[in-house]
Amino acid sequence: NIDLTGKHCLTINDFSVKEIKHLLQEAHDIKYKQKKGIKTNDLEGKTLGMIFEKASTRTRVSFEVGMQQLGGQAIFLNGNDMQLNRGESTADTAKVLSRYVDGLMIRTFEHETIEAFAENADVPVINGLTDPHHPTQVLADLMTIEENKGNLNGLKMAFIGDGNNNMTHSLMEGAAKVGMDMVVASPKGYEPNAEIMENAQKEAQQAFGATISLTDDPQEAVYDADVIVTDVWASMGDEAEEEKRKATFAPYQVNDELCQSAKDDFIFLHCLPAHRGEEVTASIIDGKHSVVFDEAENRLHAQKALMKETI
Ligand code: CP
Ligand code: NVA
Repeated sequence: NIDLTGKHCLTINDFSVKEIKHLLQEAHDIKYKQKKGIKTNDLEGKTLGMIFEKASTRTRVSFEVGMQQLGGQAIFLNGNDMQLNRGESTADTAKVLSRYVDGLMIRTFEHETIEAFAENADVPVINGLTDPHHPTQVLADLMTIEENKGNLNGLKMAFIGDGNNNMTHSLMEGAAKVGMDMVVASPKGYEPNAEIMENAQKEAQQAFGATISLTDDPQEAVYDADVIVTDVWASMGDEAEEEKRKATFAPYQVNDELCQSAKDDFIFLHCLPAHRGEEVTASIIDGKHSVVFDEAENRLHAQKALMKETI
């Protein structure tokens, strides 16, 4: 009796603990059915509009293919080619597109932009990445961890690298929803947004007695970890700081030496795209602990679940 119809997905926090569990169950079920060749036409005749103001490989293709597999269709809109780019308001764009499509996916910079879309749209809006949040990636990540470990509650996840980016924030919110302990290791000046972190800490504590903490020591973070995650050092929009960040983040590379104190059967996640030799060595991302391609595949299944439930 969980009904998510019409709900926006701007952050992981748009969903309760129970709703996240429900979405993950649906995602596993959809993946199982696809592997068995069972067709699902839950979104027959429905259209998803996808606005991209930043580059994408996985998000674009997985939403488009997912919509097709559900019997619907998706339309790719390059933000640069839209009237948005010539000053048409977000509000008018959202109102107009709502007359044509049944759901909107948006990848943009400021989170306020997607909030304005959601306020003005009459159809569900899905965040395909903003500067501070990447919720659909984290749904796929939780699904991948559960698939590999059999459970989520009680695991320890270490995030190593840029604490102040979309992946860290959404992973903290995700960990809180499923009762995973999480330690973020970031250099000084790159800590997570304090408000997002405090909210996640409170929810983790109240719902599960789980903890989310911060350190600048990557060794401390990976100690006894079941799951190790990293992300690029310079996210889309941070290009001007690339060289400076390479120096600051060098001690935060996920490599064999760092991972020695993790559990023997730890898994490694990275949302991709990755830079081998920077945030992670080839030995780790291409090694036996890595599940990054399952993780990329699971974008498809998790987003089909999200679209089936909300659109
Ligand atoms: N992980 C992810 O969102 O990939 P893309 O940027 O290729 O969509
Ligand atoms: N943090 C990265 C994720 C890319 C999928 C970025 O925002 O560029």
